[in-house]
Amino acid sequence: MVIALNENTDLAMNVKNLNLWYGKNQALFDVSMPIRRNKITALIGPSGCGKSTLIRAFNRMNDLVDGCRVEGLVEYNGQNIYGPEADVLEVRTRIGMIFQSPNPFPMTIRDNITYGPKIHGIKDQKKLDKIVEESLRKAALWDEVKDRLNTYAMKLSGGQQQRLCIARALSINPDVLLMDEPTSALDPLATKKIEELAVQLAEEYTVVIVTHNMQQAQRIADYTAFMYLGELAEFGETEQIFNDPKNELTKNYIHGVFS
Ligand SMILES: Nc1ncnc2c1ncn2[C@@H]1O[C@H](COP(=O)(O)OP(=O)(O)OP(=O)(O)O)[C@@H](O)[C@H]1O
Ligand SMILES: [Mg+2]
Repeated sequence: MVIALNENTDLAMNVKNLNLWYGKNQALFDVSMPIRRNKITALIGPSGCGKSTLIRAFNRMNDLVDGCRVEGLVEYNGQNIYGPEADVLEVRTRIGMIFQSPNPFPMTIRDNITYGPKIHGIKDQKKLDKIVEESLRKAALWDEVKDRLNTYAMKLSGGQQQRLCIARALSINPDVLLMDEPTSALDPLATKKIEELAVQLAEEYTVVIVTHNMQQAQRIADYTAFMYLGELAEFGETEQIFNDPKNELTKNYIHGVFS
């Protein structure tokens, strides 16, 4: 895929009439929404409404699911990532994913970071060292681990492991970061660190985050999408969604009528 850089647009991605099926079951219905550059977009909604399905559709993670079929467009820099010219590996390089439970590779802290760059052909030790430091600094983990880069990643705390996974995603120079409930396995302090990090990362990257935590969406997201039964019920600026929801379903959800 040739990535046309279009600095004139504030859209990192644009989703148009996206429908998705798992076998015969339709999980997403005609979803259209913008993902604005250098902003945080939150996906909220009750369990099973399609948040993970939608965020996974943003970098073709659903390709790995047997029987999954997609119709519609997910444009990244103006090009459909599902189009015939799209290169899935490039899509997943530019649009990285961080998952619900921290999943470092079973190797050292350093090797977790250099794994991707090495696959991309970087062999020079100095370059790799630089990537390790830069990625860990950007993920706000460097100071905590710089003296033990050769220890096993699993020895880190849950919050540190999640920041390591963010550093790993950053090591291959992405543009968009997708986070599916990145703090749901973490304690409040570790959650706060990831929230602060997401806000900081949005200065350089575009962030999409799935969250069950409505306070979290309000604290960090610029835009919020409320999903319900596979449909995008409402999309808008976070402040509008929470203070002046237009849709009755959004209103009921944020007021805890259902969860
Ligand atoms: N791999 C899969 N194969 C078949 N059906 C799936 C698969 N993943 C999700 N689904 C179905 O798609 C629908 C949406 O699920 P999804 O996981 O996207 O919801 P969610 O909003 O992320 O839920 P939660 O808040 O519980 O994480 C559900 O009906 C679910 O059963
Ligand atoms: Mg989910």
